[in-house]
Amino acid sequence: MKKWVTEKLICPECLAKEIPLDLTIAEAHDDDVIEGELTCDSCSRSYPIRKGVAVILPEASMSVLSETTGYNSKNMLSSYLWSHFCDFFNDPAATDAYRTWSSFFKQSDGDALDIGCSVGRLSLELSKTHSRVIGIDTSISFIEKARELASKKSLEFDLIIEGFITEKRACAFDTDFNYDHVDFIVADALALPFPGRVFSTVTSINLLEKVASPIKHLIDINRVLKEKKSMFVFSDPFSWDESVSDPDHWLSGGTNGNGSFRGIESIGRYLSGKDEIFNPPLEILEKGNVPWKIRKTANLWEHINSQFIVGIR
Ligand SMILES: C[S@@+](CC[C@H](N)C(=O)[O-])C[C@H]1O[C@@H](n2cnc3c(N)ncnc32)[C@H](O)[C@@H]1O
Repeated sequence: MKKWVTEKLICPECLAKEIPLDLTIAEAHDDDVIEGELTCDSCSRSYPIRKGVAVILPEASMSVLSETTGYNSKNMLSSYLWSHFCDFFNDPAATDAYRTWSSFFKQSDGDALDIGCSVGRLSLELSKTHSRVIGIDTSISFIEKARELASKKSLEFDLIIEGFITEKRACAFDTDFNYDHVDFIVADALALPFPGRVFSTVTSINLLEKVASPIKHLIDINRVLKEKKSMFVFSDPFSWDESVSDPDHWLSGGTNGNGSFRGIESIGRYLSGKDEIFNPPLEILEKGNVPWKIRKTANLWEHINSQFIVGIR
């Protein structure tokens, strides 16, 4: 974890009190802490930094670290490296999805937060326009890879063809990425370890349907997003799943007081001030659909229509 990240962090167990964390370094390479810990003076909890990866999770979320399936699996790493960077290695099936989402980013003298950053494409894009960028994700495997890519400034990985058959894919990265000003940590979208009103831009892309409490996710975004001169870039397919979140928590699909509103309309209403989830409310700049693909193997693809909305305040 880069040393500058420390000054942005607070303890996720003591969010209301906004307690900064104290950094102890056991090993560092220049500005990068490889082994160490961050400690909260108030609750005495310490958060490890191992092999460069800081884990700033509340106790209640720690179980995600031991998962070896889902977003921590080898298959998922191949899938998301393809999705994020397929246009860089000129794959004929590449989509423009990440170029579309990043086309909304505006030059800013503030910082950006990419929530559920996966292997980091949008965080790297945000580094072109923002002072500092932090990508967070609960997958340790994605965060390790995102940090490796930012350090090597290039990509090389084994793309799964079928079973254990793989092919190498490699490419150089965009020279405009500001690698020193972006970093990635393990943290939870439902307990963002940052003080209120600090980020000029926040992104939540294809994450809402993956969290246990979608409304809590929006409430926490409102907390960390600056009151003025700020932007929220949101996208999601709204493919709600009972194994992820209780239908009572879905923000569309006929539940939770949202009537027959579809997901994107429902998010628009929250951004515009419904239930004061976003306070002050945001002005909606753009809305639309992004065709996005996840490639599982050479023969298995998910074609997704991710619906985006961009708001400013
Ligand atoms: C569908 S993927 C989308 C990844 C990326 N935003 C994109 O569009 O390519 C969902 C991501 O959110 C992460 N995630 C799931 N639950 C999370 C949580 N509670 N906090 C932070 N990240 C989470 C997953 O590990 C995964 O990287």
